[in-house]
Amino acid sequence: FAQDNIFKIGLILPMTGQQATTGRQIEAAAKLYMAQNGDTVAGKKIQLIIKDDTSIPDVTKRMAQELIVNDKVNVLAGFGITPSALATAPLATQSKTPQVVMAAATSSITEASPYIVRTSFTLPQAAVAIADWAPKNGIKKVVTLVSDYGPGLDAEKFFKDRLTFNGGTIVDSLRVPMRNPDFAPFLQKVRDLKPDALFVFVPSGAGAAVMKQFLERGMDKAGIKLIGPGDITDDDQLNDMGDGALGVVTSHHYSAAHPSAVNKKFVEAFKKANNNLRPNFMAVGGYDGMRVIYEALKATKGQGGGDALLAAMKGQIFESPRGPIFIDAQTRDIVQNIYLRKVEKKDGQLYNVEFDVIKDVKDPGKAR
Ligand code: DHB
Repeated sequence: FAQDNIFKIGLILPMTGQQATTGRQIEAAAKLYMAQNGDTVAGKKIQLIIKDDTSIPDVTKRMAQELIVNDKVNVLAGFGITPSALATAPLATQSKTPQVVMAAATSSITEASPYIVRTSFTLPQAAVAIADWAPKNGIKKVVTLVSDYGPGLDAEKFFKDRLTFNGGTIVDSLRVPMRNPDFAPFLQKVRDLKPDALFVFVPSGAGAAVMKQFLERGMDKAGIKLIGPGDITDDDQLNDMGDGALGVVTSHHYSAAHPSAVNKKFVEAFKKANNNLRPNFMAVGGYDGMRVIYEALKATKGQGGGDALLAAMKGQIFESPRGPIFIDAQTRDIVQNIYLRKVEKKDGQLYNVEFDVIKDVKDPGKAR
């Protein structure tokens, strides 16, 4: 393949540091997608260039700049956290390079550049469903505890507005630093407040620490339920959380236990290729993001520049391992089912077992 017959995808991920599980999951998913679908598309050889941004937004930005200027990538992808996605957005706009956001989930990200397309989810999308479920299930008084940055603030606001609309009450809203959080003093405060439930958003990889301290303080035994978007019962960590996690109800777009043929095949292949690692919601964002890129390249017959590729990403509709998904052509954001799930034991392992679904949910953050 001559240099101009190579199609380059610059995949920027946190491979080390606090968000390393996100990087590991997305890298594995992207490689699985390529192994299953080949590395030649519309006559072009696909080259994946993976960069570790350690989830420091200045580093993300520098790496994106190098990928655009030196490597001349056709597409930027990845973005483990919101600040990394936002730091790159102006570069995507200036260089007219599509930026496929596979992980970060603050509502406003897609508004930061017309070249951003998202295959993950948004926190408002996930948080509204649990705010509808809770008051119908005996949960009226809730304390919220969120990571103090974009997705946490989105989760807090959209949960609060909907719960209040449904007749519930927010007793207190607590915010914990995103970097090196110490949950102990916050959980102690929640214990003293004795709400019906504690709503938690922490980014992928931090859920196990919250669960451990929640159980160590006997908060479940004190009658306080743990609820939230499904980041807290992340499939990457869930099976190691212990039986104390049983019964926790969350709302999210992906569970490794999603009972479809497409998902069963995905989970099996992912585990086989990765030493039995279970895919989580980050993996599915990466896998579907690769599909969106491949299909855009096919649709443009390998000729696409940034604008043509972007146009071919808009409006894509297909069955993901999570269920049916749609890239809204107006917002470039993902429309998908949100599931209510309860942690249960299946074949000796803990899973988020889906028991209800809200179909085709658009990002509620876009309706402002
Ligand atoms: C973000 C990161 C996460 O790990 C997650 O689970 C949700 C959102 C973010 O930074 O946007």
